[in-house]
Amino acid sequence: MIREAPERNLALDLVRVTESAALASSRWLGRGDKNEGDKAAVDAMRLSFSALDIKGTVVIGEGEKDEAPMLYNGESLGTGRGPEMDVAVDPVEGTRLLAFGRPNAIAVVALAPRGTMYNPGPAYYMKKLVVPAQAKYHVDIKMPVAENLRKVAKAIGKAVDDLVVFVLDKPRHEDLISEIRQSGARIQLHTDGDVAGALMAVTPWGDVDVMMGTGGTPEGVLAAAAIRVMGGEMQGMLDPQSDEEKKALLDAGYNLSRVLTLEELIQSDDVFFAATGISGGTFLKGVQFTGEGALTHSMVMRGRTGTFRKIEGLHSFDKLMRISAIKYR
Ligand code: FBP
Repeated sequence: MIREAPERNLALDLVRVTESAALASSRWLGRGDKNEGDKAAVDAMRLSFSALDIKGTVVIGEGEKDEAPMLYNGESLGTGRGPEMDVAVDPVEGTRLLAFGRPNAIAVVALAPRGTMYNPGPAYYMKKLVVPAQAKYHVDIKMPVAENLRKVAKAIGKAVDDLVVFVLDKPRHEDLISEIRQSGARIQLHTDGDVAGALMAVTPWGDVDVMMGTGGTPEGVLAAAAIRVMGGEMQGMLDPQSDEEKKALLDAGYNLSRVLTLEELIQSDDVFFAATGISGGTFLKGVQFTGEGALTHSMVMRGRTGTFRKIEGLHSFDKLMRISAIKYR
């Protein structure tokens, strides 16, 4: 029995936003300038948002109004028609990956109903644990690393030494890395890009089983949107990396020993998520220029239905530049 007619899937519109950011920023691949690549993506993303029928407010953006003239927290996005949504953007997730031509820089956007996205406030860093759906009720970020890995392995039907754990290659993770190694699990160390790491852990195409470690809080909220759709688990704990950040959090009344659940990070199932590869990636290919245009590779997800789509786009620059202000070449 058909209960209701399918509504509009905003994720299918949203992919145009991430595609445009990826197309614009990929011109900066390996040029060593992370700000220019980011700026190109921000400009393209903002222009594409102006055609999207939502009444959006940026909750996860490119910083505060004065520091970033575009896509700042609190900025209104969309045509103003349509549903009221919280918007999370990361026009280039992995600005250094892009600047140095390393894999897995992606353009990412998520939407959730107004008031349902966790607002990171002064929290820059968060400790994260991401596992696939089968391991959802088996892990606890406060448990020792080896115990969590044992439980994940059992839940997904693997041995601990079959597991691959995604970890950001940062000095703060020295102990974490040695605990993972002692447990017998294997590791992928990446210089940046823990949104991609989280996606790899919850989608069947990533060759990663678990994502662990401390990264950006905004990136954590973005990843949580995708994880809600995919049915995986994410737990977080605010993990300030400087005295200043810690003081700001304590002054604002944040509890640093509380576990942030997936359902707190994104408080609705009615979420939309899109990501497009910028630099060639291990799970999402980057922008490939064809001479006349470019090929893009994206993933889009919708929470209410749990639908996950991979979308390839072939873009003709001459035609696009006749109707759009974005400079594709
Ligand atoms: P940017 O795109 O803002 O450069 O973020 C990349 C990233 O690696 C994120 O994926 C991660 O969450 C965060 O930076 C980690 O921050 P840091 O490099 O300061 O440890």
